[in-house]
Amino acid sequence: LTTIREIYKNREAYLDKEVTVGGWVRSVRDSKTFGFIVLHDGSYFETLQIVYHDEMENFAEISKMNVGAAIIVKGILVATPQAKQPFEIQAAEVTVEGVSAPDYPLQKKRHSMEYLRTISHLRPRTNTFQAVFRVRSLCAYAIHQFFQERDFVYVNTPLITGSDCEGAGEMFQVTTMDLDNIPKTEDGAVDFTQDFFGKKTSLTVSGQLNGETFAQAFRNIYTFGPTFRAENSNTTRHAAEFWMIEPEIAFADLEDDMELAEAMLKYVIRYVMEHAPEEMQFFNSFVDKGLIERLNHVVNSEFGRVTYTEAIELLEKNNDKFDYKVYWGCDLQTEHERYLTEQIFKRPVFVTDYPKEIKAFYMKLNDDNKTVAAMDCLVPGIGEIIGGSQREDDYEKLLGRMKELGLAEEDYGFYLDLRKYGSTHHAGFGLGFERCVMYLTGMGNIRDVIPFPRTVNNCEL
Ligand code: 4AD
Ligand code: MG
Repeated sequence: LTTIREIYKNREAYLDKEVTVGGWVRSVRDSKTFGFIVLHDGSYFETLQIVYHDEMENFAEISKMNVGAAIIVKGILVATPQAKQPFEIQAAEVTVEGVSAPDYPLQKKRHSMEYLRTISHLRPRTNTFQAVFRVRSLCAYAIHQFFQERDFVYVNTPLITGSDCEGAGEMFQVTTMDLDNIPKTEDGAVDFTQDFFGKKTSLTVSGQLNGETFAQAFRNIYTFGPTFRAENSNTTRHAAEFWMIEPEIAFADLEDDMELAEAMLKYVIRYVMEHAPEEMQFFNSFVDKGLIERLNHVVNSEFGRVTYTEAIELLEKNNDKFDYKVYWGCDLQTEHERYLTEQIFKRPVFVTDYPKEIKAFYMKLNDDNKTVAAMDCLVPGIGEIIGGSQREDDYEKLLGRMKELGLAEEDYGFYLDLRKYGSTHHAGFGLGFERCVMYLTGMGNIRDVIPFPRTVNNCEL
């Protein structure tokens, strides 16, 4: 079998020759002596028209196929200069590999995203999800390529962990204990020593802490894997299971971290625009008008920079527009993030140097003793897409911060060791992969950029 992509890309080599393609029927219509099939094979965004004739012994079988049937077609590829499509196949043989029942849910009409979420096993066959998941795949490849070209080592960090990297307590517990008969200690607490790992464990919220150990050996590393958060927030940007890319760089400060983040995002945008032009055109026409122009502008301009303190001053002037009023010390809500990037900067922007109270324990304390060397990258349409920081590299300061926050020292011994044996100044960040795909496609809901979304009250398929 050849593919529709191959035919479109190397049309000269295939014109007037016999080709064989396999795919799924998007539509069939017949008149008495011949008929047309629109075929999609998943290799390319475009479809291919097939013409078939009543000389075929299975003409009737073909004509009564339903949308969604799987077929194999052998025939001659001919140019059709008058038609909308550049060519079609004059079929010599059409083999019906798998019929499709008449109740096939994806009939030729526009379905709502909500409805398509209820059939996540079939929605990859639609134009929208063909485009989304090809872009998602290219985006992953581009990210690996970006880091590999720069000699970063790809590290696989564990999904089951005994520590809470972000300290937000939003973890899914992992246990083999019988929940109806939980072993208890003498004072009535859960006895985790009887659990599989002999201690309390969870699904990871971030690979960062493990990643840092490798950065202190390889200098530049990145992770790319699933992470889990039991956030009870039912928004269009939060999933319980999402993928994160977490580079970690040794001998680097916050400035180096932001340069890396900006270069990475620009690289990925360029890569996807170059390798999925049809898909990007589709998003630009049907999902988010102006997307391509906006992304072109992003790759050709510098990201904005603003400190948290400056951002609060800018936002406070607009407090009348917000549900949550801002003040120095508050955590920025999505409405504030979007206002900054969409109304004030009109491009991606890094917000830096947040108050230590609203950030994680591992961030490096600034000289003011109030803020930490943190950065969030905010983008129009979404808000936060990246969160990162320079890490606290001083043993005593880190230990002090952990004690203040009540972190159990014995769970983080390995992490403290890194500050004991050849500590370097170092930094890193986490890019939310789904948010990145949303940004590149203009899709408005995280549920529609991950194949099988897991969100509050939803774990289908
Ligand atoms: O800002 P976060 O919590 O940062 C960290 O986890 C750090 N350990 C990263 C690091 O420095 N190595 O999360 C990073 C990014 C966010 O900016 C966001 O894009 C994404 O992960 N993210 C989510 N994406 C989807 N659903 C959720 N529930 C998310 N929570 C965070
Ligand atoms: Mg964050």
